[in-house]
Amino acid sequence: MIEIKDLSVKYQGKNALTLALDKINIKINSGEIYTFIGPSGCGKSTFLYVLAGILKHYKGTVTIDGQPIDPKEQRIGLILQNYGLLPWKTVCQNSMLGTKIKDNQQKPDEYSQYILTQLGIDKLLDRYPKELSGGQQQRVAIARAFILKPDLLLMDEPFSALDAITREEIQELFLQIWKQHTVTTIFITHSVDEALYLGSKIAVFTPSPGRILQVLDNPCFQMENLRTRDEYHDMSVRLRNILHKG
Ligand SMILES: Nc1ncnc2c1ncn2[C@@H]1O[C@H](COP(=O)(O)OP(=O)(O)O)[C@@H](O)[C@H]1O
Ligand SMILES: [Mg+2]
Repeated sequence: MIEIKDLSVKYQGKNALTLALDKINIKINSGEIYTFIGPSGCGKSTFLYVLAGILKHYKGTVTIDGQPIDPKEQRIGLILQNYGLLPWKTVCQNSMLGTKIKDNQQKPDEYSQYILTQLGIDKLLDRYPKELSGGQQQRVAIARAFILKPDLLLMDEPFSALDAITREEIQELFLQIWKQHTVTTIFITHSVDEALYLGSKIAVFTPSPGRILQVLDNPCFQMENLRTRDEYHDMSVRLRNILHKG
């Protein structure tokens, strides 16, 4: 379980201090996907950067299974909006980057091959990121995260730069792979549709400074033909109401 207690973050700008997160308290159960939704500027990325160990000047505590969160100690997968691939490394090298750092393993083993194949990038291993479409680059980022076998997977609006059709394809592909390799996932989004499609739990942020307004169970999670169902429409109205009341 991830436990976040009284997490606050301030940024010191040139003239003013910005309070980005204001006493976030939440417990995150293992093996679930939590989608975090909130308006632009509410502190979603700040929240993720704290969990990723990138942002260290926070107040409060963040623990995984009772241990302070630390990317050097735990295995944390990170998938960002701009894919985060290294342009001078091939698809294969980019995919293996996490395990190279953590396990000193550079060559794909059977498990890595299987993930690369599932993501449909096993024929692109010698290409460089600039020779790939956005959707293919995001598949490489997903491969890298799963090949690491993370304890925690962090995703910051990873699909928002993709066109609508590619986005739905990748959301579906991500869920398929996630079902086979269940990992505690924190998925940041500003899309109601995405929050409902991917989250087993949905946490709603207030507008800036970010606090957790509500955490909802999502009855729609993994329903077949979800987007065409009444339950989905009802949840979507409920979620929009909560977001607009702020
Ligand atoms: N490096 C920074 N310096 C100063 N203010 C920042 C910095 N990064 C983010 N902020 C401010 O903190 C708030 C939260 O930003 P962010 O976490 O990026 O929000 P979101 O991801 O929800 O759009 C915003 O008001 C933003 O302007
Ligand atoms: Mg952001």
